[in-house]
Amino acid sequence: MASPPPSAGPARLVVLVSGSGTNLQALLDAIGDGPEGFGARIVAVGADRSGIVGLERAERAGLPTFVCRVKDHATREEWDAALAAGTARFRPDLVVSAGFMKIVGKEFLARFGGRFINTHPALLPSFPGAHGVRDALAYGVKVTGCTVHFVDDGVDTGPIIAQGVVEVTEEDTAEGEAALHERIKEIERKLLVEAVGRLARDGYRIEGRKVHLGHVGE
Ligand code: GRF
Repeated sequence: MASPPPSAGPARLVVLVSGSGTNLQALLDAIGDGPEGFGARIVAVGADRSGIVGLERAERAGLPTFVCRVKDHATREEWDAALAAGTARFRPDLVVSAGFMKIVGKEFLARFGGRFINTHPALLPSFPGAHGVRDALAYGVKVTGCTVHFVDDGVDTGPIIAQGVVEVTEEDTAEGEAALHERIKEIERKLLVEAVGRLARDGYRIEGRKVHLGHVGE
């Protein structure tokens, strides 16, 4: 699958969030006043809940936002279709799940498969799911980290774009999940910014499980 950003000019990003939005903020900061240099600009931020800091960050940056809550829809499928339509309105080249804590469904993937990116706080394929940090710590691993990947129809199973490694120390073991997660997020934010920038600037192709960054067709 070859997927260069189709828009003329900087790639259009829609970012989806559920929480504090520090990954969103890292993208905002990297783009700054120079979307041409970064190769992408955020055109909207979506969420599955209201009242979160992630949405406040978007509003502060002057970006349009939308909220699509599961509980406002009769079925999960209807929610998924509404999320897909809400996202499609902004004509994104790439959609970034930056701490978006929902699994999307068929309709969303039909529209955005191959250009929908997620960031996960563990070294996939180990420790997928909502508790990657906790599960890695409980397992007793000595290194963990984060993975930026394309989303497919599994849970954190799509082709890997980039990974970052974080050592697990005795302190993490004593202090628990939150401290380790903070250290992972420091690496994760940089990894996400770098990965999104490269996808947007350089194009990419996905061959099976392999993601090749760089100009498509070279
Ligand atoms: C990140 O670690 C992400 O991988 C996980 O939730 C965290 C989101 O952090 N799913 P933030 O909302 O970007 O601060």
